[in-house]
Amino acid sequence: MKVNAMTVSLACRAHSGLHAGIARWARSVLREFPISPPQALARLRESENWRVAAATSMVRASRPPAVALLAALALLAGCATRPDGGRATIHRWTQLEASGGVSLRAIVAAPNACPVAIVDGLARPLSLRARATSAAEPGHPATDNPAFQPDFPVTSCELALPASTRQASLDGQVMALPKSPPRRIVVVGDTGCRIKVPASGAGDPIQDCTRPTDWPWQSVASAAARTRPDLVIHLGDYHYREYCDNPVLCAPSRAKGVLIGYDWAGWNADFFVPASPLLAAAPWVVVRGNHENCDRGGAGWMRFLSPVPYQACGNQSYRSATRSVLANNLTADAYRVDLDGGPTLIVADNAGHEDYRPASATPLDEAIFARTLSALLTLPPTPATWLLIHRPIWYELLAASSPTNALQALLAGRLPANVQLVFSGHEHALQTINFAPTADLASYPAGRPAQVIVGASGTQLEAFDPPSPLYEGSSAAGSKERAQPDGRLYDGVAASSGILLNRYSFLLLEREDAGWAGTLLDADGRALGNCRVHGDRKEIACRFPGRLPGR
Ligand SMILES: [Fe+2]
Repeated sequence: MKVNAMTVSLACRAHSGLHAGIARWARSVLREFPISPPQALARLRESENWRVAAATSMVRASRPPAVALLAALALLAGCATRPDGGRATIHRWTQLEASGGVSLRAIVAAPNACPVAIVDGLARPLSLRARATSAAEPGHPATDNPAFQPDFPVTSCELALPASTRQASLDGQVMALPKSPPRRIVVVGDTGCRIKVPASGAGDPIQDCTRPTDWPWQSVASAAARTRPDLVIHLGDYHYREYCDNPVLCAPSRAKGVLIGYDWAGWNADFFVPASPLLAAAPWVVVRGNHENCDRGGAGWMRFLSPVPYQACGNQSYRSATRSVLANNLTADAYRVDLDGGPTLIVADNAGHEDYRPASATPLDEAIFARTLSALLTLPPTPATWLLIHRPIWYELLAASSPTNALQALLAGRLPANVQLVFSGHEHALQTINFAPTADLASYPAGRPAQVIVGASGTQLEAFDPPSPLYEGSSAAGSKERAQPDGRLYDGVAASSGILLNRYSFLLLEREDAGWAGTLLDADGRALGNCRVHGDRKEIACRFPGRLPGR
């Protein structure tokens, strides 16, 4: 049988009893001449008052009169094609919440209202999460830095989906829902384009946001989407294009049209646009990075990605006495996500932690961590658990001579024995650090968990040493990469094994009968190395394959 594809895109508002009557008549006609899929009928069924329906339907060629009749009746009933063609929604995605819930998120251009999703055949309007605001409007937080006056001419919307949801769509796009059990997990971290140039001083290196070889986040997101993940974990630091005030250094970027700032334009360019294919591929678990602190990109984090109800950052000052230290950073409580078949994830916010300072210098931090990490510290003893936390407990950039910091002090002697791995970003490299089971019996009688750092998914790498000697299979002076530990101490303990890879990269974890296998992939999706998780040993064993074919 010949089948035609046809898009039916309607916006309806029945203003009067007459229009409502026509709408009811239209619905009765649809029942007699149904179109598929049935969601289209369900949407019209919901159109008594304000409804927006947009669906792509396969319409049988033998029923064009029914479709024409539907269109005419819809117009008579107050329906009209949306002036924006039904594309008021700029971005849409799903992210996991505590207790198995899924949050359907959307960003729409102001002044459009939040869209309506179709959830298991029923229309479900999204709720307002954060309204559009202008930097110029009264009451905007005062700031000592002109960079911190973000404009957000977009509305942030959300809808809590129950764990039992079988199907959800928005604007005709099927939304990714959790798979049971998830078999492929993509892990990325530190993705934004680094621009932070003051009017005085040299500033940090500027990435060329227009060149995928310089800033490969879009390539990473596309390659990661091609792996068809069931879950995406972002370990934080989404927004890096902070400000550019030096006319000499910044003119070239501006001339190329690079958008810079903490505002919507900056967030859209730095994260949402390049992330689009990966946002559509799977539900996300989002971790807050220090670049999403309230004195940096916190406004965007709170509007769009924060897993808790929206709160506006009150502090937008920078490097002042009230900057976003833990006490005023709106640190969210950690929450637990139980993946079907394991592991349990504990998603925590340590973005505001000043980890390079000794615990004695940050006396409030331990108490804040004790409160916000309650879900971690009170874990039941059985489920294998991975902790997701932006700043690593142990990492290369924390000097071996660094004193024990507040997080390390809190976790020593209290971290539950079933925490096997700690995933973090922050360091712009890919590093694994394993400890011998008996290396720190005083603080970790069941062994320290392995530290996994995935922080090279787009932001400027920690060190420039391409071509990497290790990557090419040989060793050379000056390389930051290594296939085994160099003997340095991490909070007093040397690693027993681990790698450091200084390449733009991401991690793919795949479930196997005996646990999880990992693949380290470059920005184009080519394998750099392989890993295997040995949860019982609190270890992730990774190795380089040597020179890649074709290189
Ligand atoms: Fe960071």
